Amino acid sequence: MKINRVSALQIFDSRGNPTVEAVVELSGGQHGRGLVPSGASTGRHEAHELRDGDPGRFSGRSVFQAVANIEGEIARAITGRDGIDQEGLDQILIELDGTPDKSRLGANAILGVSMAAANAAAALRGVPLHAALSNGTGTLLPWPEVQIFGGGKHAHGRIDVQDFMVVPLRAASYPEALEVVSDVFRAAADVMRDRQGLAGVADEGGYWPAFDSNEEGFSVLTKAIERAGYAPGTEVGISVDLAASDLYHDERYHLGLEGRSFASAEFAAMVIDWVGRYPIVSLEDPMAEDDWAGWQGLRAALGHRCQLVGDDHFVTNLARIEQGIRLGSANAVLIKLNQIGTVTETLRAIRRTQQAGWVPVISARSGETEDAFIAHLAVATNAGQLKVGSFCRGERMAKWNEGLRIEGELGTRARYVGAGVLAGAGVVLPVPG
Ligand code: PGA
Ligand code: ZN
Repeated sequence: MKINRVSALQIFDSRGNPTVEAVVELSGGQHGRGLVPSGASTGRHEAHELRDGDPGRFSGRSVFQAVANIEGEIARAITGRDGIDQEGLDQILIELDGTPDKSRLGANAILGVSMAAANAAAALRGVPLHAALSNGTGTLLPWPEVQIFGGGKHAHGRIDVQDFMVVPLRAASYPEALEVVSDVFRAAADVMRDRQGLAGVADEGGYWPAFDSNEEGFSVLTKAIERAGYAPGTEVGISVDLAASDLYHDERYHLGLEGRSFASAEFAAMVIDWVGRYPIVSLEDPMAEDDWAGWQGLRAALGHRCQLVGDDHFVTNLARIEQGIRLGSANAVLIKLNQIGTVTETLRAIRRTQQAGWVPVISARSGETEDAFIAHLAVATNAGQLKVGSFCRGERMAKWNEGLRIEGELGTRARYVGAGVLAGAGVVLPVPG
């Protein structure tokens, strides 16, 4: 089925910033939409997000050029092409752009079209997106990783650590897992209210981090788990995204809230100490993106008991993932569509991660939309993990809720292994008591 029409629109993300929506229409009348998310704590090696840079419009953030690129050059290149051949289509987009980081046409322009084409193909086949992406082989519902406190660039640097998250360790199904995290999310509000620290939410919906030190985040989170009636470490674990690239400058790691700075090995020692004292089961970007030696050291120290996830470290980029596998720098890869810019390259990154015996974590961005594409991507690839921020705000709940719909639709074919996904990566967690 041929592509009949390609169009685009400047819409707004969950921070109210402009972003791209693309629509691909097939000659049979079926169409698909792709809404592009946007990060704040972006990695240096990500694909390029094209913004107009006109200070008089949205403080330089408008994406009118990306929209024009879709309706002009991209539309001309793909109209009349086979709309079902995702790989072929994405290859045309990559070659048309011609730069290694998609900076000419914009990764936001390219990804919008790539996602829209995937949705149009699913519409044509009359199946949900996850089934179209996987030919029906995706059946694993994700282990949800849910933010309770949001910090770093998502809270104007109020605290250095970016995401304080929880993961259910004993839930038997995806709906049960959501029930556990929703209990902890509400209990955390009670704990913060008691401390007179309840002050709204950060960009991804986690509570505003009114703490005097980074470590206080871990102790209050542990209290929230207990207040919700769960045992920290056996029933609910802590997952943390340090987004350490944002803490690293002048060859040192800085905790601004505490006025302290660390050499790489000292910073790693502090992280190892946290893991020893709090029920932390997953660490994302614990070291800066290009501190390969720091990553290797941490993996040697913690890789048997902790998931070590590279986000800015890998940027969903196959070449960086290959290097990580070669050097043994992590055991998990955060997957964000807009870090690389096409559906095909994202699927390849996930596949390579799984082939290496590592685990992918499908992730949203801090600037999100109502598009629930990633919930389908998680199930389609049997990735087993999904991270979309907290348990409030419509753009976050759209993904958690889509997972519930997919589970219902899969019926008895739906699977859930929760924290069991880590076993494949050789991570041994405490046995739930
Ligand atoms: P970002 O944050 O979307 O602002 O990059 C999410 C993350 O770091 O995981
Ligand atoms: Zn991250």
